[in-house]
Amino acid sequence: MSLAPHVWPETAAVTGGRLFVGGCDTVVLAEQFGTPLYLLDEATLRGAMRAYRQAFAAAYPGPARVHYAGKALLNTALAQIVVQEGLGLDVVSATELLVARRAGVPMAHVHLHGNAKSDAELERAVAWQVGAIVVDTLDELARLGALTAHLAEPQGVLLRIAPEIEADTHVHIATGGAAAKFGLPLAVLDMAVARVLNTSGLRWLGLHAHIGSQLFALDQVVATVEVLVAQAARLRDRFGVTPVELSPGGGLGVPYTADQPPTDIPRYAEVVSAAMQVACTRHNLPLPRLTVEPGRSIVARAGVALYRVVGRKGQRWLHIDGGMGDNIRPALYSARYSAVLANRAGEPDSELVAVGGRYCEAGDVLLREIALPPAQPGDLLAVATAGAYTLSMASTYNLVPRPALVLVGDGRARLIQRRETEEDVLARDMRL
Ligand SMILES: Cc1ncc(COP(=O)(O)O)c(C=O)c1O
Repeated sequence: MSLAPHVWPETAAVTGGRLFVGGCDTVVLAEQFGTPLYLLDEATLRGAMRAYRQAFAAAYPGPARVHYAGKALLNTALAQIVVQEGLGLDVVSATELLVARRAGVPMAHVHLHGNAKSDAELERAVAWQVGAIVVDTLDELARLGALTAHLAEPQGVLLRIAPEIEADTHVHIATGGAAAKFGLPLAVLDMAVARVLNTSGLRWLGLHAHIGSQLFALDQVVATVEVLVAQAARLRDRFGVTPVELSPGGGLGVPYTADQPPTDIPRYAEVVSAAMQVACTRHNLPLPRLTVEPGRSIVARAGVALYRVVGRKGQRWLHIDGGMGDNIRPALYSARYSAVLANRAGEPDSELVAVGGRYCEAGDVLLREIALPPAQPGDLLAVATAGAYTLSMASTYNLVPRPALVLVGDGRARLIQRRETEEDVLARDMRL
């Protein structure tokens, strides 16, 4: 067995037959913190954040901002790292916004997203003076107008458009088509801009689009930038306003298996920046602030999930102590992963098996086919690229408590989210 280096964290290594991450022995971590356990490799995480910042600073001549998309994974410690690395934060709920505040993220660098924001969420975002609320619908705009009527300083808004671009990704994570549930159809954009310009509590900052996630081909991202700039130029001609900011969202893909290409953040920055410059020159528009919102490509590779092998069923099935409750992606969109036996990582992968999760659902299959050494109950399975859209989408299905999250680096392990307890799970449960 060998670790495909672009799939595992930068610090992953096999020593004495055991998988180490962040200088920590995963076998020891599993005993210390229990399983299932999620690890976050600090070096890989910070490295991706720095790569984004440096790449855009080098590639884009105008002001550029990198906002980590918290939906991929969010907790206070992670948001603190976001601040330390000089990134902004995108949030999608009042509680994510609270985490941003707890972590000390400057509110000017927070954007609130969501296609169905509640009044309470909008009120909190306005009261805490977030940098921008990214408006998705005309209805939201009307509510936001009412909520901001009293403001002395208007609230900045970006209008999210549906750019009518179909991303080449799984249908569940494609968001840019005209029929998608996200964004203002281009047909109503002028109406939306006119309303913002006529609403005293709002300030129009610019346009936003996000066509989908797990994108490898960047031509659709380029097309998105072109639509953003072309629409901005049209709005300038019609309304006499120039956008301060344009954002093509996030979405850069990551490899989950050895056959997929590595994430190339510098190339992404170069392609997006060049597209923005070319389009702005063509439309005679000054370079706007360019904001990108990566989630997966910042946190996915830093994450490793550890599971205990509970048992076997015949030749084919390995059963583990986690699954769709902590990682819904294989069940939701047939996501594939790489894995090793963390306690026997030096042994040859001589067996093809399927790894079944512990949840009572036939679709709870974490790995449909994976080569491993012949595994036995008690062995430790490590799954790579497990940082994004796993714990953040976790559930308590079957009333199973959710796993702990440990930050690892330089041989040190820090618990940043404790394991959920039975008491936590039952805290909302009422007797008749
Ligand atoms: C508006 C918006 N921005 C950014 C992201 C982050 O995407 P990714 O994690 O693929 O980079 C998403 C994810 O769905 C999103 O909806």
